[in-house]
Amino acid sequence: MAETNTILRVQGLKKYFPIQRGVFRRTVGHVHAVDDVSFELTKGETLGIVGESGCGKTTLGRCIPRLVEPTDGEITFSGDSVGGELRVQSADKERIADLRRRVQMIFQDPMASLDPRMTIFEIVSEPLRYNADLTQTEQRDRAASLLEKTGIRSDYMDRYPHQFSGGQRQRIGIARALILEPEVLICDEAVSALDVSVQAQIIKMFKQLQEELSLSYLFIAHDLSVVEHVSHRIMVMYLGKIAEMAESDALFDRPRHPYTESLLYSIPSADPSLKGKKRRVLAGDVPNPADPPSGCYFHTRCPYAQEICKTTAPPLKEVAEGHHSACHFADTLPLKGYQQIISERRSEPAHE
Ligand SMILES: Nc1ncnc2c1ncn2[C@@H]1O[C@H](COP(=O)(O)OP(=O)(O)O)[C@@H](O)[C@H]1O
Ligand code: SF4
Ligand SMILES: [Mg+2]
Repeated sequence: MAETNTILRVQGLKKYFPIQRGVFRRTVGHVHAVDDVSFELTKGETLGIVGESGCGKTTLGRCIPRLVEPTDGEITFSGDSVGGELRVQSADKERIADLRRRVQMIFQDPMASLDPRMTIFEIVSEPLRYNADLTQTEQRDRAASLLEKTGIRSDYMDRYPHQFSGGQRQRIGIARALILEPEVLICDEAVSALDVSVQAQIIKMFKQLQEELSLSYLFIAHDLSVVEHVSHRIMVMYLGKIAEMAESDALFDRPRHPYTESLLYSIPSADPSLKGKKRRVLAGDVPNPADPPSGCYFHTRCPYAQEICKTTAPPLKEVAEGHHSACHFADTLPLKGYQQIISERRSEPAHE
């Protein structure tokens, strides 16, 4: 790879799911869940991935450790332990197993799918049984140290999942994901189900772990406010494509895509001065990804759409350093940043 710091490079990634109908399961079309997505992730970096439900975030995340087989594109993984590149598509079984050790996924409630009769120790240390030759004592030591790192007392190791809160269960799930010393964590809505205060604690822990263990994260959420404080950069997706990608501050201060502006408008705020003030919410539903609109996919909901938007798809281009947008009018639209949106809402008359 060109830059030694790039740990993951995704180029032209596509995942099309066939839509099958009838008794013979004839393919009648395809859902373009991920449609030509390219990005790079640097070692120690967090890339936030946001967009409404159904825009392809989970599919994108799952393509990387090959839990979903991509339709097209190239995923290249580089890191210290193997040395050199690993092209995900051409990897053999052994290298895929290695890849799945180095790239771990964390879900909303990772423990929900596990046997409730397993103790915390058994849950956290399970991956070691297939991947490392350690004695029981060594396994307990490793599990204890990771539980402590994720904020769970190691003397709770022989308890069962139901004895923990949602936030604690998420910490235990993270300890399990870390037991094989991965380099990349893909956190898919990992904090979305938690209360705002618990979310903040878990996000803080993610940041501490990142520093301590030099981890890189893909941090997926449907809400921009969740990824704001953890992400160095943010990718906004719409119907399987990148709408905008930029450093977090730039995206919040000066968005360059109307969809991002809409997402900023819809962030709920706990600010007491906004009590009773209306939020502008995005009109309409996400279009059917099996039959996306012509031209710019966002034109059916975009408040700034022009004629050209209905016919011509805008390419993703760099509009400022490191700031990419797929909008014909990215340079000229007077889109509002988050602070401007908040001030505008403050000055509006209260409802209720
Ligand atoms: N296994 C699958 N088979 C068919 N369609 C799928 C499958 N997984 C996801 N999809 C479709 O792909 C699109 C993207 O889904 P997903 O990646 O789950 O989005 P998100 O995580 O952003 O909500 C949706 O239209 C979804 O219905
Ligand atoms: S290209 Fe047109 S429809 Fe698409 S986001 Fe820009 S202004 Fe809106
Ligand atoms: Mg999802």
